[in-house]
Amino acid sequence: MSGNGHLPSHVAIIMDGNGRWARQRGLVRIRGHKEGIESVREITRECAKRHLKQLTLYAFSQENWKRPKREVNLLMKLLKEFLVKERKEIEENNIRLTAIGRISGLPEDVQRELAISIEESKDNTGMVLCLALNYGGRSEIVDAAKDIAKSVKDGKMDLNEITEETFKKFLYTGEMTDPDLLIRTGGEMRVSNFLLWEISYTELWVTPICWPDFRKEHLEEAMKDYARRERRFGGLQE
Ligand code: IPE
Ligand code: IPE
Ligand code: MG
Repeated sequence: MSGNGHLPSHVAIIMDGNGRWARQRGLVRIRGHKEGIESVREITRECAKRHLKQLTLYAFSQENWKRPKREVNLLMKLLKEFLVKERKEIEENNIRLTAIGRISGLPEDVQRELAISIEESKDNTGMVLCLALNYGGRSEIVDAAKDIAKSVKDGKMDLNEITEETFKKFLYTGEMTDPDLLIRTGGEMRVSNFLLWEISYTELWVTPICWPDFRKEHLEEAMKDYARRERRFGGLQE
């Protein structure tokens, strides 16, 4: 088997296993989340260095609100700190920050820092770093359906204009390409409501390594595996 020999241009990551990482060390869960930020830093830097077009990180799902209030509050505090602290690093690496999810459902102080980081990096021409925050794949599709229905109702769009291509434009990821490679750390074999529309032909790579232990050598391993794969998109091998 020849494989495609390519580097993925868009990598998405379900950064899972922070709590287990902490538990294995007799630490409180939040220590795992804190440690996970170090992985975000290293992997972002590495992906930018490799000239990836986009890195999308699943940082907080819509379902994560079900967690104890204390953990949710600490996660929001860490997110806010991350946004402020990483501005310099984002600038230095010519990264453009963006976000997907129901952003208006985030605490106001987080929304504010997010808006500043997005605005400050908007003219950067390097890799796009996309944070999935208060994100749910089903909500994304529902939100798109609502916007399309409104456009049709208002006479701005014809029913026959609803195609896979135009539908895609209404998603949070409307202007983005679909991920080539989806990495999940922490070993669970599920997608947990992440990018449901976008991953229809994405290559999946799951590792038992917990997110705080995930380093550039693991990313390298995932990319090598990706390069060996043959993507057929339902067709036949050349
Ligand atoms: C991922 O780690 C981080 C978030 C979901 C915010 P978890 O907190 O889910 O860690 P595990 O899966 O319980 O180990
Ligand atoms: C997925 O991890 C969400 C994020 C990494 C932000 P979860 O820990 O929330 O997923 P489940 O509950 O194991 O499916
Ligand atoms: Mg988890």
